Amino acid sequence: LLSLHCIMAETPLNHSTDPCTNGEHSGHPAVPSSPTAMGTRGGDDDIPTVDFDVLIHGAADQRTQAIRDLRRACEDWGFFMVINLGVPEELKEAMMETCKELFSLPEEDKAEYLEAGPMDPIRIGTGFLSVVDGVRYWRDYLKMFAHPELHCPAKPAKLRDVAAEYAAKTRDLLLSLAEAISESLGLDGGRISEALDLESCFQILVANHYPPYTGSDSRTGLGMPAHSDHGLLTLLFQNGIDGLQVEHNGQWLLAKPLPGAFFVIAGDQLEHVVQIVSNGRYKGVLHRAVVGGERARMSMVSMISPCLDTVVEPVPELVHDGQGLEFRGVRYRDYMEHQQSNKLNGKAALDIARVQID
Ligand code: SIN
Ligand code: FE2
Repeated sequence: LLSLHCIMAETPLNHSTDPCTNGEHSGHPAVPSSPTAMGTRGGDDDIPTVDFDVLIHGAADQRTQAIRDLRRACEDWGFFMVINLGVPEELKEAMMETCKELFSLPEEDKAEYLEAGPMDPIRIGTGFLSVVDGVRYWRDYLKMFAHPELHCPAKPAKLRDVAAEYAAKTRDLLLSLAEAISESLGLDGGRISEALDLESCFQILVANHYPPYTGSDSRTGLGMPAHSDHGLLTLLFQNGIDGLQVEHNGQWLLAKPLPGAFFVIAGDQLEHVVQIVSNGRYKGVLHRAVVGGERARMSMVSMISPCLDTVVEPVPELVHDGQGLEFRGVRYRDYMEHQQSNKLNGKAALDIARVQID
């Protein structure tokens, strides 16, 4: 089966498209996200782990500990592994397999979505054979807006049902995690949800496909440059092939999941609302995807965000008296469009929300 990537490598649709990230022409200055800019360590056992079952159903003392662990994970990492989430394995497999089929469809079945822009509800993209800032980006993707309304390509035919089930299941779980995160800040469980209108939250599903790459520069190959996510919380699982790296204390760490575990990535909106807390901050974590294996890697992303029209600003209860605000209110739609229309560049997108101090 030919992947979209291979097809596009032979016949790129649009060379003016920035293959680096979001596929949009960009006025943003090119800043290399060189894989050598930070040291890299191998797999790491220290990535915090949160047991979702304990977090939700544990006895009071177990729960208190789990909430404490969650707080530490959000402050120190912005990233954690979550076990016992309760997403059926068959649903995960169905999602992976169906998206894999999509990447193998003939180009004409995907052409309309290849032309889509960052705020279009269905978008398919490819990095094909391109070098940007000396780094190869080697990724095909499918992005679908999944809530309040699911948008889905017509083929493969079963994608709509599978994606609807996966989106609903993961949305509920992410909303429960948002409640626990709110508690971890000493707030009511519903406070973050209230601040961000999560009742009517915006959700995106993304399937990433990184074709095998065994070229001479495979060791420096990137599937996706360093970035933080524009949403609130991202849930991710992969097809058994590692490649996600997270930045922690100035080092890139390869994230190796326990069997069946998911990763949770804190996004920019969490950083934005939880700007100043008594003992620290919650940060959107910088992460990237590396490639270089003989087997294709796939990752599946479900991200929840504030409602598109919500103006995101720090939760007042978390702001210390007398401390200046680092971020101002920004409508989430504007933030997302800004981040998605420019070359992904670390955490530069958050600058539009930063209060200028003269
Ligand atoms: C992402 O950041 O959306 C994808 C990372 C990955 O493929 O692991
Ligand atoms: Fe990401």
